[in-house]
Amino acid sequence: MSLTRTPDVLAVGGGIIGLVTAWRAAQRGLATGVVDPEPGGGAARVAAGMLAGVTELHYGEQTLLALNLVSAGRYPRFVAELTDLTGHDLGYRRCGTLAVALDADDRAHLRELHAFQRQSGLESEWLSGRECRRLEPMLAPGVRGGLRVDGDHQVDPRRLARALVAACERAGVVFHRQWAERLTVSGDRATGVVTADGTALTGGQVVLAAGSLSGRLAGVPDAVLPPVRPVKGQVVRLAVPQRYAPFLHRTVRAVVRGGHVYLVPRENGELVIGATSEEMGWDTTVTAGGVYELLRDAHELVPGLTELPLTETRAGLRPGSPDNAPLLGPTGLPGLLLATGHYRNGVLLTPVTGDAMAHALVTGELPEEARPFTPRRFDATTPTDPSAHTEQTALTEQTA
Ligand code: GLY
Repeated sequence: MSLTRTPDVLAVGGGIIGLVTAWRAAQRGLATGVVDPEPGGGAARVAAGMLAGVTELHYGEQTLLALNLVSAGRYPRFVAELTDLTGHDLGYRRCGTLAVALDADDRAHLRELHAFQRQSGLESEWLSGRECRRLEPMLAPGVRGGLRVDGDHQVDPRRLARALVAACERAGVVFHRQWAERLTVSGDRATGVVTADGTALTGGQVVLAAGSLSGRLAGVPDAVLPPVRPVKGQVVRLAVPQRYAPFLHRTVRAVVRGGHVYLVPRENGELVIGATSEEMGWDTTVTAGGVYELLRDAHELVPGLTELPLTETRAGLRPGSPDNAPLLGPTGLPGLLLATGHYRNGVLLTPVTGDAMAHALVTGELPEEARPFTPRRFDATTPTDPSAHTEQTALTEQTA
């Protein structure tokens, strides 16, 4: 076992959440390390990168909506800063989203979503089927109407991850390319991790940001173990040859037979179709059934896609939490912070998570907008701040 110099912060997990935390912490002058065998990997390898705070609005998640909107609002400056610093193009497209309905049930569902968006003060516009097809001529003739949301954009998560690795390197973040196997606790304080090769890494503060794996790190006391679980998503990638471009101008999505399907067209010609949502534990097998369902539903929306080359199939694991919202900031164990449980919104919440975690690492407190997302809302023994997250706590109680 070897010992290394103690950094101020050790981030366990080098996906986009661990990386943005490390980058922002280093920018605040904290000596920071990241422990991950393959920084820049994780769920961002699979994610489509929709920044869909408005189209993915759900009842009971208004508190999360507020955080999603803050993060969406920070995206333009966040992208500009990362691009200026690293020279990486992140594939950020302010292209908007069109959510369409194929039958009467879908139409009723979208009408309800539209009403809820308006009640929530969000901008979206109802379009007839004909108006939808005028915007997106590749849509099926049977489209019955849709919602145009010009504020929901996209970014390329793989490029984002690469840019964050580069930004961390420039900021002096040290990468330990190993699996973290165990949290070390000394007295009543988290002090670091032991890696798979037996190296003991110490950190003044440890941030557990390992996505769906965050609930599995050995040595974390049960009372502060994050209640995250893997939610599998299968995704298909097609390529749009130049002669068909632009195939779609914006993200197109729908609920088909109760399942969500979305098509995200990138400027480089990639068309990402996602995603299944499956509670299958740690399984990341790409299945015939998963791919079939995605292509069947996408084909109902956009029949012309059968002509496109299929370039990739992949499955990833979203870090689901009991109330679908992230767990951010200090835990009941001094020295241990969490940045996990981002579920369907990891890419969208990357800017606000980096800011909130850096603030928490420097001051010991979450900034105002992130306070409802304290992990302490799940503590059995500690009363939650009564002003914090009452609506989501109620949802947890209902579903428990
Ligand atoms: N936010 C899209 C998904 O999780 O599939």
